[in-house]
Amino acid sequence: MNALDVMKISPIVPVIALDDENDALRLAEALLEGGISIMEITLRTPAGLKAIEAIAKAMPEMHVGAGTVCNVHDMRQAIEHGSGFLFSPGISQELIESAKAYKIAFIPGVATASEVMLAQNSGLMHAKLFPATVAGGVSALKAFGGPFGEMRFCPTGGVSLSNLNDFLALENVICVGGSWIVPKEALVQQDFKSITALTKEALSTIR
Ligand code: 3PG
Repeated sequence: MNALDVMKISPIVPVIALDDENDALRLAEALLEGGISIMEITLRTPAGLKAIEAIAKAMPEMHVGAGTVCNVHDMRQAIEHGSGFLFSPGISQELIESAKAYKIAFIPGVATASEVMLAQNSGLMHAKLFPATVAGGVSALKAFGGPFGEMRFCPTGGVSLSNLNDFLALENVICVGGSWIVPKEALVQQDFKSITALTKEALSTIR
């Protein structure tokens, strides 16, 4: 699976922070029931790697990858635990080279023209715009479309039901990422039905 394949799985990529790896399979089921078969599980909690491993082993129908991959140690661990792809909030030469060596789909975060140039000149034509609304949102993506006509983006950070269609309408946007589909309170309350409902609501909002 390359980066484009990953970004085409679903128009919405849930960005997930899990405090308890025991929630992983039920969360994956709730998202699948709602119609989303991709999960970006961030490495910002210690449960992240175990959750990735549990889903990768037990649920082949769910595409699971890691987010918040900030250095090569994160990258190695994420791959060893079964991540099928990797998202990063930023971009660095070291991450680009390691991802190539591991032959894994790597979607770096970019926020400036120079970072887009680093991605593009390294052969990475797919990137996250992060943090999307802070980095200029729709206007920035339209502006990037001029000099970087081949680049395709997954805006993440500040995306919600109220603006996802503005992003998805852009020619250079394939999908959006967001955390609102998996609220922390729903996990604390073990309310997986509400996560399925939020997933369905998000997909049905897309025009
Ligand atoms: C993140 O890394 O937390 C993502 O960008 C999610 O951002 P959001 O909480 O604004 O959806």
